[in-house]
Amino acid sequence: MRKIKAGVIGAGVISNIYLKNLTGMFSNIVEVKAVADLVQELARKRADEYNIPHVYTVDELLADSEIEIVLNLTAPVAHAPLNLRALEAGKHVYTEKPFALNREDADQVLALAQQKGLLVGCAPDTFLGAGIQTCIKLIDDGWIGTPYSANGTIIMGNSSGGMHPNFQNFLKLGGDPIMDMGPYYLTALIALLGPVRRVTGSAQQLNGEITILNPQSHAFGQTFPLEAPTNVHAVLDFASGAVASLQAAKESFGYSPRLEVFGTEGNLIVPDPNFFGGAVFIKFPSGETKEIPHSHAYAEEGRGMGVADMAYAIQSGRANRASGQLARHVLDISLGIFEASSSEKHVHLQSTVDRPKPLPLGLKYNTLDA
Ligand SMILES: NC(=O)c1ccc[n+]([C@@H]2O[C@H](COP(=O)([O-])OP(=O)(O)OC[C@H]3O[C@@H](n4cnc5c(N)ncnc54)[C@H](O)[C@@H]3O)[C@@H](O)[C@H]2O)c1
Repeated sequence: MRKIKAGVIGAGVISNIYLKNLTGMFSNIVEVKAVADLVQELARKRADEYNIPHVYTVDELLADSEIEIVLNLTAPVAHAPLNLRALEAGKHVYTEKPFALNREDADQVLALAQQKGLLVGCAPDTFLGAGIQTCIKLIDDGWIGTPYSANGTIIMGNSSGGMHPNFQNFLKLGGDPIMDMGPYYLTALIALLGPVRRVTGSAQQLNGEITILNPQSHAFGQTFPLEAPTNVHAVLDFASGAVASLQAAKESFGYSPRLEVFGTEGNLIVPDPNFFGGAVFIKFPSGETKEIPHSHAYAEEGRGMGVADMAYAIQSGRANRASGQLARHVLDISLGIFEASSSEKHVHLQSTVDRPKPLPLGLKYNTLDA
């Protein structure tokens, strides 16, 4: 099968795992031709680590006619502007989350892609992993009856105590708990339960600023403003009639993930959607809890699966699963939660999306189409 050439923009922390997987596990379908970053040394470092032939400027990368997919791994504020440039240059684009910081930018990206006949994809792709795909199959096969409720919690310490090189991005909109961690939970919930109809919530902040107390941080002792809500509770009504609550907070300690779907005939304990694998359990009406083996492959850290899935979609003309439309719906939900909080009412969403098609069973290692 023809390999699809990709160019990566953004050579920061997360580029490491993408490049590992795209030059390893998915190198049968994707070929990374170039890396670019505002900081050329970072791009050079990654290119050397993963034997990528070219270190480009962003302009050079977009001008390379062989590159079909632009993988945008930059900071949230740069996602939509770079995605528009990539589409203008005739490239399919796959971006890290959040898809955009407002609905207008998200819609502009989708409209331009449609006009040009190009695909748009967006992280997270963790829902393509063994954990969530197994849960989707269990729900679709009726193991928990009709799912009527869900409960998700993602609580973590703020910006790893200042250890991320650009931790300030996590103190602004885009790196806040709903825009940064929410997409994993919201995308998984949509994949499990379908689209959301209306939202309400409360978006709060414990403190207006944060002092970096980790002596290992380059910003040790400095104080920074917190420019986004960091303690958020939401209630989501799904088109199916199911209702979910979601808590996403960052002004806490450690890491506390949880996701459970309640059905008329059992409760499904879903593994952390921030990862690809994780144990799946069903709590039966008898009170018995059983671990259910994965029905699907890809339990290991598989970031880049969404890009590989896009490459298969380009080859066959099918839709890509971690799609821009899915990410647009996630963004709509996220912004709706903030708006509901400030207006003290429910927000009815204008966007919707179909549940992404589950992955086929019995896939050969390295492949995503049967
Ligand atoms: N770090 C993680 O664990 C993680 C996990 C999942 C997703 N993400 C997401 O991935 C994205 C990147 O995160 P990160 O942790 O790698 O951040 P990072 O700050 O380490 O890296 C971002 C890189 O993008 C470059 N960049 C920014 N604007 C650019 C532009 N206009 N043109 C070219 N390069 C530009 C920066 O110089 C930097 O090297 C974010 O949206 C984040 O939410 C991060």
